[in-house]
Amino acid sequence: MATYTIAWMPGDGVGVDVMNATRVVLDAMHFDAEYIPADIGWDFWCTEGNPLPDRTIDVLKRADCALFGAITSKPRDEANEELAPELRDKGLVYFSPIVKLRQLLNLHTNLRPCKAYPGNPLNYRGDDVDLVIFRENTEGSYGGVEWFPLPEKVYDALCDNPKMVKWKDKGLENVALSTRIMSRQGCESICRQAFEYAKKNGRESVTLVEKPNVLRETGGLMTRVFRSVADEYPGIESWEANIDAMCMWLLKSPQNYDVLVAENMFGDIISDLAAGLVGGLGFASAANIGDDYAVFEPTHGSAPKYVGQNVVNPMAMLFTAKLMLEWLGEQQDADRLDRALAEVIVEGTIATYDVKGRGKGDSTMAVAEEVARKVTQTVGA
Ligand SMILES: NC(=O)c1ccc[n+]([C@@H]2O[C@H](COP(=O)([O-])OP(=O)(O)OC[C@H]3O[C@@H](n4cnc5c(N)ncnc54)[C@H](O)[C@@H]3O)[C@@H](O)[C@H]2O)c1
Repeated sequence: MATYTIAWMPGDGVGVDVMNATRVVLDAMHFDAEYIPADIGWDFWCTEGNPLPDRTIDVLKRADCALFGAITSKPRDEANEELAPELRDKGLVYFSPIVKLRQLLNLHTNLRPCKAYPGNPLNYRGDDVDLVIFRENTEGSYGGVEWFPLPEKVYDALCDNPKMVKWKDKGLENVALSTRIMSRQGCESICRQAFEYAKKNGRESVTLVEKPNVLRETGGLMTRVFRSVADEYPGIESWEANIDAMCMWLLKSPQNYDVLVAENMFGDIISDLAAGLVGGLGFASAANIGDDYAVFEPTHGSAPKYVGQNVVNPMAMLFTAKLMLEWLGEQQDADRLDRALAEVIVEGTIATYDVKGRGKGDSTMAVAEEVARKVTQTVGA
């Protein structure tokens, strides 16, 4: 029996290419795992009316953790149009399967490291950027509590608030509402994990990215909780920044920052920005982590314009596999993979179009094979 059971979810579009590439590298490392394929994504919405079939949840529950490529998500009207005709008018509503997975498995923490590897020509701000972002993953603006049209009870309750007077005349059928809903527990958990990570990894500072001067209740709660957690870690500097200012500071002097912590949407925004500083979506990895389960996915999506071309950068997915190895406690393998990736980046001989320029890139699989070759050398196998 293999040491690990991994749920294997390529999903849509280029998710398939980068997962195939990752398998080549994991096999070259002799990583001892059984991979169980699991269905997720757009095709299953179109044909079954469910982008996250129940059988996939069963696979996930049997596995130690899951590796996930990418999915395609589309707005409500397009989703309805692409649904199989026999499934229409049955009240089925499209939902993002990855958002649902995060909620269902309580994957409360989204970890996104953004490190500039020397030699990467896409390192916008030099080679010394090394940020780690902790994004709350199940609450906040992506908590999924939203309506259109507004239910009458919600509309009436809101219209009791004097600030809502101007909405009264608009009519509930004309108003959409998405909430930013946050709990003390959710705030505390993400802040504590950021400080714990900083402590364990010798990081100097943790910065909260919020907007408490405008989002006074949710932002205020997060800020108070952050300060009280920070008090427990006197050896680590704690800073606070507004999301808008932080976007500017990250572009200007990312070297000044270390560990960042934010609610769901702000974390999403700064992690894409930070990814852009160190090579873009082709290099950006992510882990969705719960108390005893995790789903690992690159930051990028299904990149529809590159579907079936085998041209996108597999590095993001390979760095994601590194996060998986770390989470599983296979630190030596994680370090070997990291060294192999760093070597391929610094040599720059084999690289995809995003690094070499359009029309000059090597294939997804060529990059994976080069990483596999390096890993095999390091492993000495
Ligand atoms: N977690 C996810 O699965 C996830 C995340 C983001 C977007 N999406 C979905 O993906 C679809 C496409 O969304 P999008 O175009 O906004 O974002 P995307 O990340 O799929 O692609 C945007 C662009 O980034 C570049 N890119 C992405 N991955 C790359 C890689 N590995 N190597 C090199 N370049 C890469 C490409 O130029 C691509 O056109 C949508 O349906 C969206 O909902 C899914």
